[in-house]
Amino acid sequence: MNKITTTTLKKMKQAGEKFTCLTAYDASFAMAQENAGVEVILVGDSLGMVVKGQASTLSVTMDEMVYHTANVSRVCYKSLIMSDLPFAADVTKKQTYSNSARLISEGGAHIVKIEGGATLLASIEFMANRGIAVCSHLGLLPQSVYKMGGYRIQGRTPEEAEQILKDAIALEQAGTDILLLECVPAELAAQITASVQIPVIGIGAGAACDAQVLVSYDMLGLTQGTPASFVKNFLNDSNSIQDAFKAYVEQVKNGQFPSAEHSFN
Ligand code: KIV
Repeated sequence: MNKITTTTLKKMKQAGEKFTCLTAYDASFAMAQENAGVEVILVGDSLGMVVKGQASTLSVTMDEMVYHTANVSRVCYKSLIMSDLPFAADVTKKQTYSNSARLISEGGAHIVKIEGGATLLASIEFMANRGIAVCSHLGLLPQSVYKMGGYRIQGRTPEEAEQILKDAIALEQAGTDILLLECVPAELAAQITASVQIPVIGIGAGAACDAQVLVSYDMLGLTQGTPASFVKNFLNDSNSIQDAFKAYVEQVKNGQFPSAEHSFN
């Protein structure tokens, strides 16, 4: 069984082969996802909402991220384990580094995801120079929900779109290994995906991204309230959670998901 690494994902991008990512916060979901062929398992700070029942991700602590990341990494042998730096864990370069090191050494993560663009360039470079793999999260930043004025699509004005594109290119130059784009118009995501050599994972960012991610509870229809328009319920046409994960992998790889209905203009 070949372990998935950032090099594997870069090669998949170069070959035009889509890959998949789903969130997991515990061993059972992580094992089911790895068995379904999910390449990247994200221990997201979305656990604040779907596990803790909070209205946002802001209450999630470093200790909670380490605990959930360890529960996932303990049972995975093939998938790349990505773990979120939670709110306020990345204020300085050194804090970003030491918290990332905890996710890796105590949690068993392989790559750390950090929300934010150009303001984080120095931290990304600091991490890259010290051998830590990083995924930069651009577009809608849930940890900045109060500053952004809600969970809104980003990059709709030419100025916003240009800023996100510039940030993506600058982050790649600073040493980021993967980009994650959340809730941006499909056309902008396509432009960014074509402009960088590193893989781009999208959520609500259209079909042109190199990979897709969804919160697993959302794609199983477990999340309370009306789902976001970019979410598809994969359990509806499946007989089990395992089959729903397999259907997701198949539909991302064959281009069936996301369709226009699950993307933004
Ligand atoms: O925390 C999370 O689950 C995420 C996804 C929404 C991409 O960051």
